[in-house]
This record gives sequence, C-alpha cells and structure tokens, in this order.
Amino acid sequence: MANPSILILAGDGIGPEVMAEVKKIIGWFGNRRGIIFDVTEDLVGGCAYDVHGTPLTDATMAKAQEVDAVLLGAVGGPKYDVLDFSVKPERGLLRLRKEMDLFSNLRPAQCFDALADFSSLKKDVVAGLDIVIVRELTSGVYFGEPRGIVIEDNERVGINTQRYTESEIARVARSAFELARRRNNKVCSMEKANVMESGILWRQVVQEVHDKEYSDVDLSHMYADAGAMQLCRWPKQFDVIVTDNLFGDLLSDMAAMLTGSLGMLPSASLGSLMENGRPKALYEPVHGSAPDIAGQCKANPIACVLSFAMALRYSFDMGDEATRVEKAVEKVLADGVRTADLMGLEGGKPVSTSQMGDAIVAVLDASL
Ligand code: IPM
Ligand code: MG
Repeated sequence: MANPSILILAGDGIGPEVMAEVKKIIGWFGNRRGIIFDVTEDLVGGCAYDVHGTPLTDATMAKAQEVDAVLLGAVGGPKYDVLDFSVKPERGLLRLRKEMDLFSNLRPAQCFDALADFSSLKKDVVAGLDIVIVRELTSGVYFGEPRGIVIEDNERVGINTQRYTESEIARVARSAFELARRRNNKVCSMEKANVMESGILWRQVVQEVHDKEYSDVDLSHMYADAGAMQLCRWPKQFDVIVTDNLFGDLLSDMAAMLTGSLGMLPSASLGSLMENGRPKALYEPVHGSAPDIAGQCKANPIACVLSFAMALRYSFDMGDEATRVEKAVEKVLADGVRTADLMGLEGGKPVSTSQMGDAIVAVLDASL
C-alpha cells in the first residue's frame, strides 16, 4: 500500500517556523514508528504571490486535491495589505477551502490543566474545558454573491451577501451531530434568527435534520451574540457548537482565549468522503501569521502540532498515534515548558519555537 501523502503549505509569517516543528514530528514517526509519510511542500499566500503573482497556483491547487491531507501554516502579512483583493494571501486559503469543498471546520478548544491559570478567565470557568466549534467553511457571507464595492448615488457601497442553501446547512449539521455522538452528545446551534432570514432557515434545517436523523442528540439553539456571552460566562455548558462561517470565525477566536493562548488551537477542515472512504482534509492552526513575532523563533508551535495530531486521527485512522502526540503536548506543558505566549505571571524564561518542538519529540521518545 502507498504511504499516506501530505502536502505541506507552510505559508507566511510564523507559518514556516511552527511547521518546522511539525516536520520534526513527521520525521520522528518515520524513524521511530516506521510510519512513513510522503511529504511534498509548496507555496500558499504571500510567499506564493511573491514567486508566482498569485496566492495559490492551479498546480498547487491540483496537488492539494490529490493528497490524503494538506497541512497549512498561516497566510498573510502587512506587506500584502496593499494588494488587490483578488490576490491577497487570504484568497489562497479561501480557494483551498472552497475548491476542496471543506465544509466542516472542527475547532476544538481544550484547556490543558497546566494552563488553567493562564486564561484571562477565572480558573474554575476554564479548567477541564473541552468543547468543539463546528464552523461552516465554504459558504455564507465569505462567498455569497453579489459582493463588491460599487458606486450608488455618488457614493461607494460595500456589499457582501449572507446566503445558505438548506443542503449546505444540513451537511454541516450532520457533521456536528456525528461528532457529538462520539463526545457528550450535545449540540448547540448558533445563528441570528432574530434578525436574519438565513438564520431562520439555519435554525429550521438544523432542527429538521435533528428530528429526522439525530433525535438521540441533545440539541439547543442560541442567538450567536448570546452564545458569545455564554462562551465567556460558562463555556463548560457546551459540548459541540455548530455555526456559520462568519460567526464561527469570531466565536472560535474567542474560544481560543479560554484555553490560554491562540497559540494552542488546532483545526481540521473536512470535506466529503473520497474514494478511499476518508474525507478531503486540510489541517491548520487557528492562529494567523503573527507578523509581529515572525522570524524571531518565539511562536508557539503547539496549535500546528495539534493540527497534525488531528490529521493522524481524521485522515489516517491513527487515533492512538494522535493521542500519543496530544499526551506529549500535555506532558510538556505540565513540565512547565512555555513559549513566550504562555508565560504567566510567575515569570521564568520562555523557550523558543524549536525548543518547544524538541521538548515534544523528547516526550514522544520517552513514550516508546
Ligand atoms: C481563520 C482566519 C481566516 C478566516 C482568514 C485568514 C481568511 O481568520 O481561519 O479563522 O477568516 O477564515
Ligand atoms: Mg479567524
């Protein structure tokens, strides 16, 4: 059987730095576990624009469609702010999501015990937190037409369209219900049905899918603004949250801070099943390219490492190996190893990006 294949798109800013640590772990699997991945690397985002004049070439897009999993670092940076919208680094990422049809974006927010003191929220609010936001990723206001900046009555008008078909809502709802069944069997759906027709339809379709196919799952609905408030007030009331593209973007950044640092949050973006029975998939940290600290070996690679662990679980059926990586991260944190973003009030000296990676690999070694 062919080795599992991975396309690495490290991207911009801290992307290449955090991805270097994932490459160490991929290497570790080859050397120590005999699990060999066929890895190819390519460009996405600003670095692709610098070379090709586009944030994602057709050739790279085609490669992404062929591999078992894509690992992405981050895209964007101030240097590219002046570019035309159509070639901005972010467009490369959005094209991957759209053309691979990665409609279900899983963003787990888990608070490791060692970091419970570190969140800006009180310890008892976040300790033991384990929730997943399922964000719709291929539709909604990110992609809806019409869009643009036009002139009307002698002034500029910015237009974006929030648009969801019932099949788009139903498929992401199913993925949230399936996930909930493997967890604590609870789904909370968030929209703004009080002010948006797309929200009314969202609520109806989620309820219908539930009643027809998943009535064993405990389903509730919340307006997204109230949901944001509840996420801060008592996040442990949630298990799986399902929401649209834009609300999911906001709510997942907020959920990240519950865990102590945006540098901790992995994500998996999954599409429909391929011939081999696995979903098309792209894995990326939730954090962005962090231009302010890029190139300084300060970035926390854990979100990217945990994204690779998600790949092991969802693309390669290696749940035990995924757990091994997650446990290694947990152990390293418990041992007090901290990158700069995780330095609490207690002070101390932060480790570099690569020292954090080495510490994880050392625990992996010890796990054998
Ligand atoms: C995210 C990011 C992206 C988004 C950007 C980089 C396009 O914020 O993945 O959350 O808005 O979806
Ligand atoms: Mg975001």
